[in-house]
Amino acid sequence: MSGFTFSKENEKYFENLLKRYPEKSSLTLPCLWMAQYQEGWISPEVMEYLANKLETSPMEIYSVASFYTMFNLKPIGTYHIQICKTLSCALRGSEQIKRHLVQKLGINVGQSTKDMRFTLSEVECLGSCGTAPCVCINEDYVQNATTQKLDELLDGLSK
Ligand code: FES
Repeated sequence: MSGFTFSKENEKYFENLLKRYPEKSSLTLPCLWMAQYQEGWISPEVMEYLANKLETSPMEIYSVASFYTMFNLKPIGTYHIQICKTLSCALRGSEQIKRHLVQKLGINVGQSTKDMRFTLSEVECLGSCGTAPCVCINEDYVQNATTQKLDELLDGLSK
């Protein structure tokens, strides 16, 4: 049996979505979002739960969750720092920002700090190429990011 269940709010939202979509499989993405907001990541228990709920297999849920980089397949820190590595950001110094953050946080890309405060990831285009380089911290964009700007932000978040 799965150790995960939707919160009351998510369950209510799910019930409403069911009325709008005849195919349960169409609910895979919204359900993954709800589960991730609730749990922080898509654990094997979440996949099993969603598979039962959507009458599919955990492998089907996994195949969708692993296709999209915005779904976390392992626990992440309180602050998820995502550095865009695509062309505009690369040309405007994202590599330098990455090296700086790796050194500052003492972790590599794909890792979290021991206190689980920060997780560092590299992602494809964040859709903010005009203000490259772009870094996303949880749901907030840092546009025209510089190492100095990020230092100030992260120092504030460390307190
Ligand atoms: S290339 Fe970085 S936001 Fe588009």
